[in-house]
Amino acid sequence: MSRQRPAGTSGVIVFGTEGMSVQARDGATINELFSIAKMTLERWPAALCLLRGGHLPTRPPPPNRRTHLIGEKHMKHVTLPGGEVVPSMGQGTWKMGERAERRSDEIAALRAGVELGMTLIDTAEMYGDGAAESLIREALGSVRDQLFLVSKAYPQNASRSRLAGACEASLKRLGTDRLDLYLLHWRGSVPLAETVEALEELKSAGKIRHWGVSNLDTDDMEELVAAGGGGCVTDQILYNLVRRGPELDLLPWLTEHKIPVMAYSPVEQGRLSTHPALDKIAAEVGATPVQVALSWTLRRDGLIAIPKASSVAHVRENRAAADIVLSDAQLATLDAAFPRPSNRRPLEML
Ligand SMILES: NC(=O)c1ccc[n+]([C@@H]2O[C@H](COP(=O)([O-])OP(=O)(O)OC[C@H]3O[C@@H](n4cnc5c(N)ncnc54)[C@H](OP(=O)(O)O)[C@@H]3O)[C@@H](O)[C@H]2O)c1
Repeated sequence: MSRQRPAGTSGVIVFGTEGMSVQARDGATINELFSIAKMTLERWPAALCLLRGGHLPTRPPPPNRRTHLIGEKHMKHVTLPGGEVVPSMGQGTWKMGERAERRSDEIAALRAGVELGMTLIDTAEMYGDGAAESLIREALGSVRDQLFLVSKAYPQNASRSRLAGACEASLKRLGTDRLDLYLLHWRGSVPLAETVEALEELKSAGKIRHWGVSNLDTDDMEELVAAGGGGCVTDQILYNLVRRGPELDLLPWLTEHKIPVMAYSPVEQGRLSTHPALDKIAAEVGATPVQVALSWTLRRDGLIAIPKASSVAHVRENRAAADIVLSDAQLATLDAAFPRPSNRRPLEML
């Protein structure tokens, strides 16, 4: 099996589900499955290698070009409502594309990240007034079909009269004909029901494939669902070791409603790179403090972290963090050093 294209699977090998705990029906261990997957990909670089359902499928998954690179790099994945899989670590772009002297490094960083399987790219019309979207086009336009592109609309554009125009402008800057995911950046004065209607219209028109929200707290999410927003596929929120408030109610609510969470500023805009409480564990696992912080965030199933890095070295370091598994003792040490708040507090945002 490891030497031949698996019969009836269109090059698909399944090597586990979240948690990597499932064995193939032939009884192979996860390690054996990884070797099989590796050998298959060496031989058929274009082969899909997805995590699906914990068993070797008897028929191929639906054709979906956007999933090609996900499993090839063995990264944990997150399944969106509807079944599409995305990598659990993507790339943020806030403050990118704004400084000419940084541009070539930023382009190299984004490309390196995609090569490493971080194919989910997060941006927004707000970032540099569209400069980040234009940078993405320049850096990644040639591999657009491998990407899962996420952009966001300003709240003042989230109305029936303005959202289509905002979306079109983002599409133009990104050089693409559709967004994979379009988010309401934060809640403003436009009623949620109207925004949902406008997003659903964009979806019907094929301009966006999925929609979601950002910076919505639990009560907002309840209101969204009540306003017809059952099609929301994510809430992008501030979540990291020093921003654990969402653990009290928003994260459980999202889990209960099977809505994946996207964690922004997962390394607290770089500030966790120098946090002394992370040094000891970093030394223990042979990693950097940033890697420990990212690995802690990624411990949750159904979570996508979107660190922003503008150098290839940082991108590589961040990608490697996805392979670190912290022990229970290390997680307990982090709990003690970064306790979750004891009382509910409003969702923080940056
Ligand atoms: N929805 C929202 O309201 C919202 C708000 C904030 C952010 N976001 C999204 O989330 C993304 C990430 O958040 P963020 O940019 O605020 O913060 P972040 O990802 O937590 O931190 C980015 C900072 O960390 C540094 N960094 C990255 N990797 C590093 C490493 N391995 N070692 C040391 N430093 C490292 C970066 O430096 P270099 O650039 O020099 O590599 C940058 O200064 C944004 O880019 C954006 O796409 C969304």
